[in-house]
Amino acid sequence: MLQYSQEKDFLEDIVMDDTTKQAASAAVRIDPDPKPNSQKSGDAFVAYMNDPVEKVESPTSKQPGLTTTAKALDRWFTERQKNQGAPRLLEVPNEVLVTNAGPLQLTGNITLVHEDGTVQYSNHVTLCRCGASGTKPTCNGQHLEREFLNPGKISEASEIAASQRPSKITLSCIKDGPITFRGRLRLHNQFNQECVKMRGSLCRCGQSASKPFCDGSHSRTGFKTG
Ligand code: FES
Repeated sequence: MLQYSQEKDFLEDIVMDDTTKQAASAAVRIDPDPKPNSQKSGDAFVAYMNDPVEKVESPTSKQPGLTTTAKALDRWFTERQKNQGAPRLLEVPNEVLVTNAGPLQLTGNITLVHEDGTVQYSNHVTLCRCGASGTKPTCNGQHLEREFLNPGKISEASEIAASQRPSKITLSCIKDGPITFRGRLRLHNQFNQECVKMRGSLCRCGQSASKPFCDGSHSRTGFKTG
């Protein structure tokens, strides 16, 4: 196929008057502005993103013998992987390590609802429990500056049995208050203590007498989250 410059030269070699040359040259001119093509590729990209046939495979989707609950959960995560860049479904229970003098290290299939209503999907999140972080609800290391010394003991007993089945958990950040959770959560620590609950409130002001759970101390101390 002739390029523009070649086509131009070719036309100029043909015997014709100036008016005819100009008209013919305009007729074969290649538009240097690639906008139509860009638009087309943009449309194709959008079509690709919306293609209902395009599936994001998750670890469980090829595993036989999944329960209905597990399949529904897998579908839930697959949808979020596709549309919102969510993490993949982990075949692990939701667990939080109450660290010695540090944050809550949460692992699982997590939906974190921030105070402003924004929703974050994650497989791992490190939540401040000293009250001093400048990036609440996550830890930014300020517990070291503040010399937060709580060893992370867990004094409450389990309300339900632990389970290895994967499930999802939703945590909600309460303004000037704790982080509440709904969904099976196993809390554990360095002392091999554990507590399994389906719902509860996690202290993030650092003042609760029943850490890692909230006892309402944030109201007494005037804790502010923002
Ligand atoms: S626990 Fe790390 S900043 Fe609060």
